[in-house]
Amino acid sequence: MVQVRGLIFMVSTLAVAVLITSWAEAQEFLGPEACQKCHKAEIGVWEQTPHAALFSEFHKNKDARDIVRAVGDRNPKSSETCILCHYTAVIDVSGEPDPVAGPSCESCHGAASEWIEIHNDFGGQGVSAEQETPEHEAQRIDAAAEAGMIWPDMTFDATRNCYSCHGLNNDALDEETATLMLDAGHPINADFEYIEYSQGKVRHRFYPPEISVNQELTAAEKAEWYLVGQAASLVAAKEGLADLSHPDYVAAMETRIARATEALSRVNAGAAVLASPTEANARAFADAIADEDHSAAVSDLLPTQYK
Ligand code: HEC
Ligand code: HEC
Ligand code: HEC
Ligand code: HEC
Repeated sequence: MVQVRGLIFMVSTLAVAVLITSWAEAQEFLGPEACQKCHKAEIGVWEQTPHAALFSEFHKNKDARDIVRAVGDRNPKSSETCILCHYTAVIDVSGEPDPVAGPSCESCHGAASEWIEIHNDFGGQGVSAEQETPEHEAQRIDAAAEAGMIWPDMTFDATRNCYSCHGLNNDALDEETATLMLDAGHPINADFEYIEYSQGKVRHRFYPPEISVNQELTAAEKAEWYLVGQAASLVAAKEGLADLSHPDYVAAMETRIARATEALSRVNAGAAVLASPTEANARAFADAIADEDHSAAVSDLLPTQYK
């Protein structure tokens, strides 16, 4: 009955590009330098995050050394398991993953080698973003998403993606390895929730017209992202539980499911995803509540302090 396999099977083609199955197929990450030239403000934020700090700190973490030995590797920076979530790795000349940063731009927006050219083409050589036609823009956005880019307005995919690491939902991580990690004390934080964890150090919202201002979410936007994040948490927890039965993991996922159930039962549109927590239903939920104001329904659930 027990089959050693990835923690989840991603049906979404968008997510498949993010969740790699082997390093041979993984020549997808370019590293944050590929974004630096045009996204200086976002780079500036990211450099101050715990994600960025992992690159210089993680291999010195004493707990990390114990956990890496438990999975049969020696050093977190060269362990293919740890690299999945603690680093952004490019493929070096010998075909091995070479960490170049902690979790970074592409960890959340999708590995970019398939979409960077589409992203940077505004309608032919020499055409700037300002000169792009609306038709070309619409086409470019869709084509990049198809090639694996996670755009900010793909709220379900963007929040679901956090759980590929913060829920151990990575299909390149098999059950046996995940169990060894958890037995050796790898944390699984039941309290991870999108708003609390995204609106502190991680927040980068330099949207037009005020592109020099890192904007806060409005109350309505906060409620929307919170609810979509809870739908993502629910879907990820159910998928994780189908593949991993470690008691610490089960307890954490049950806590998450209880929270999500409380939140989603506050809005009518939540009923379908609660009845059947699939990615398709969660995406439909995200579409249904986009631009609605549910702040009154969930205000008492929203965090007031951010990581
Ligand atoms: C050559 C310049 C350039 C590079 C390189 C570049 N971008 Fe962009 N990016 C832009 C421009 C211009 C926009 C705004 C136009 C648009 O919406 O696409 C943008 C928009 C975005 C958006 C969406 C913003 C929104 O308002 O919805 C994301 C996310 C993004 N880029 C991520 C990245 C990531 C991640 C990388 C590196 C892998 C990257 N970009 C590399 C120029 C660039
Ligand atoms: C599937 C993703 C994933 C993999 C694979 C993974 N980790 Fe983690 N690790 C995380 C996340 C996410 C956290 C933060 C805790 C949380 O959110 O549950 C974390 C936290 C940790 C911490 C606690 C850090 C601290 O500051 O106290 C240690 C230690 C750690 N991981 C070690 C490892 C080692 C060693 C490996 C490789 C054998 C590894 N992890 C593989 C996702 C992962
Ligand atoms: C931890 C996950 C995560 C990381 C790391 C991350 N992003 Fe984002 N990014 C998001 C999410 C989620 C949004 C949508 C935020 C919103 O609209 O509230 C977003 C929004 C954006 C936007 C649109 C808002 C703006 O600032 O103009 C751009 C552009 C962008 N990201 C680029 C980048 C670049 C470049 C990097 C690397 C330096 C990066 N992101 C790193 C998750 C991430
Ligand atoms: C590629 C894997 C990965 C992805 C994707 C990811 N994270 Fe993380 N995140 C980590 C790891 C690993 C840690 C390190 C935990 C540690 O050292 O304690 C971490 C830590 C954090 C921390 C610091 C936690 C603390 O207690 O200070 C925040 C906040 C955070 N992540 C938010 C997010 C959000 C929000 C998203 C999605 C938009 C996201 N992360 C997506 C891997 C990831």
